[in-house]
Amino acid sequence: MSIARSNPIRIGAGLLLRIARAFFNAYRLWRLRSQGLQCGWNIYIDRRCKIGCPANVKIGAFSNIADAELYALDRITIGERTILGKGAFLCTASHDVYAPDFRLLTKPISIGSDVWIGTRATVLPGVTIGDGAVVGAMAVVANDVPAGAVVVGNPARVVRTGRACPVEFDPLSLATVDWRNSIKRLMTSLHQGPGTEPE
Ligand SMILES: CC(C)(COP(=O)(O)OP(=O)(O)OC[C@H]1O[C@@H](n2cnc3c(N)ncnc32)[C@H](O)[C@@H]1OP(=O)(O)O)[C@@H](O)C(=O)NCCC(=O)NCCS
Repeated sequence: MSIARSNPIRIGAGLLLRIARAFFNAYRLWRLRSQGLQCGWNIYIDRRCKIGCPANVKIGAFSNIADAELYALDRITIGERTILGKGAFLCTASHDVYAPDFRLLTKPISIGSDVWIGTRATVLPGVTIGDGAVVGAMAVVANDVPAGAVVVGNPARVVRTGRACPVEFDPLSLATVDWRNSIKRLMTSLHQGPGTEPE
């Protein structure tokens, strides 16, 4: 027997799970902020996300960082409502491969607001990604990406332009609690009583 999606027990359990996730997220943010990460309490960072040198990183409100890696030997700036997909890699460091001492070279990375970085995409040192841009899965971004562009491939090439930013979407609701909707759903289901058929 499967439990209907509208069943209050199922909705309540889902809500509890999301509350627990929000709680552990707050703990992670507290730890990272104490290491110098610049962000508010209104972002989500997955527990498997790796941030080297958090003091070099600034993340804007409502951004959602999955289990990405931020190798921040130089400054990384991320705007608001931006999503980093699973396995995305922001790399600020390289080496001078022509110098006899193979010296370390670092350059900052800047990512705008309302950007989506797809799964396993890599952003190389010095890159700026404009507001509303999308980086496709597995892309390797070596050059700047204009605002509203969709780029794919290695090296990343523009396949579309003029993407409008999704103004009514809250990336945080993907991971933690969308309080308004969750409570509304719970109240509706309590009112209607439990069901047993899936929707
Ligand atoms: C980039 C993406 C958003 C599609 O954007 P789109 O504007 O709808 O692009 P289309 O699907 O029309 O594809 C346009 C071209 O790019 C190619 N393409 C699309 N995504 C690609 C990718 N990730 N890598 C390489 N090429 C890609 C298509 O094959 C197509 O090529 P063609 O014109 O030669 O046929 C999507 O393909 C993508 O990569 N999504 C990310 C998925 C992800 O990371 N999910 C994580 C889960 S949270």
